[in-house]
Amino acid sequence: MNESILVTGANIGLGKETARQLALKKETKRVILFCRNQVKAEEAKKDLEEKTGKKIFEIIIGDVSDANSVKKAVEKIREPIDAVILNAGGMVGKTAAKVTPSGMNELAATNILGHVILVEELIKHNKLKKAVLYPSAEAVPGVKMLGMKPVAMKTSSVDAFAAVLDGSYFGNKFDAVQAYGYVKYAATMWMLSMARKYPDLKFVVVSPGNTKGTLAPNNLPPAMKFMLRYFMMPVVFPLIGGMVHKLEVGAKRFVDGISDEHYRSGVFYASKEGKLSGDMVDQSTFYTDLKNNSFQDNADEAIHRFI
Ligand SMILES: NC(=O)c1ccc[n+]([C@@H]2O[C@H](COP(=O)([O-])OP(=O)(O)OC[C@H]3O[C@@H](n4cnc5c(N)ncnc54)[C@H](OP(=O)(O)O)[C@@H]3O)[C@@H](O)[C@H]2O)c1
Repeated sequence: MNESILVTGANIGLGKETARQLALKKETKRVILFCRNQVKAEEAKKDLEEKTGKKIFEIIIGDVSDANSVKKAVEKIREPIDAVILNAGGMVGKTAAKVTPSGMNELAATNILGHVILVEELIKHNKLKKAVLYPSAEAVPGVKMLGMKPVAMKTSSVDAFAAVLDGSYFGNKFDAVQAYGYVKYAATMWMLSMARKYPDLKFVVVSPGNTKGTLAPNNLPPAMKFMLRYFMMPVVFPLIGGMVHKLEVGAKRFVDGISDEHYRSGVFYASKEGKLSGDMVDQSTFYTDLKNNSFQDNADEAIHRFI
């Protein structure tokens, strides 16, 4: 049972709804909202207190794309915490390809860099007791019916992962929507590697599924955002079925993933093959690269070239 949980990117979207649901669990005594903006964090805290009737929220300020910012944030965590949900992230928007001081581009730094440092610093300072959850996406195994191809890296070598992280893997045509799946794949493999390295902790990867009510679509190119809002969401997805769900449902996947012992360490859970909603299943049953220990360790090594 997790009494204290830290959620990154907790001021909006899935992170905030996850914080709300966790606060309503009877065992929860402390929820840390890890956010990059003090004003937004204070607003979210106030709203969460009103919605839950609980005064158990704390704020830690940190930017997950910035190594130093995360290290300073960890110093402010005095008491060990039970679980961490590495929620901050997404497609980043226009600045996704911009190279950060770490050498990773902003897309990779936001979805990976700070989270790896956060977890490793917490472990190093004995401040993490039980579990880590990373939100991946169905973009990794792909969704054939929607033309979303699976991530298919030719080698999954250390060099190939490093190229994904600095963006060179994609040549001159950096497309954040495509690169997003590759970045989530790298993060997923790092988590699976950590599960083997730290058998006393639970490292679980969960996709929230295609979730309405977050700000994620704002980071899509305008034409794609338009298609999603006026055609895919209201017409296509309801027609196909099993393709979209409410914010509460997406966040519940995180809450279940971190709290329920049926969700095991070293497994990536997401929708059934070809779906974006519904029951969650172990993705390695049909996306078999996930089982490759060398690929997992290669992702870990590549990430550490930038840390
Ligand atoms: N929505 C979906 O359908 C879906 C599907 C699959 C996976 N996911 C994953 O689920 C997670 C949450 O997505 P969402 O849809 O809830 O996104 P969202 O509504 O856009 O919220 C993203 C959160 O991350 C924070 N954030 C972004 N960059 C940050 C940084 N550098 N440092 C600290 N915080 C940062 C944002 O803070 P600001 O408010 O300050 O920008 C915000 O709180 C992401 O990892 C995403 O990839 C989402």
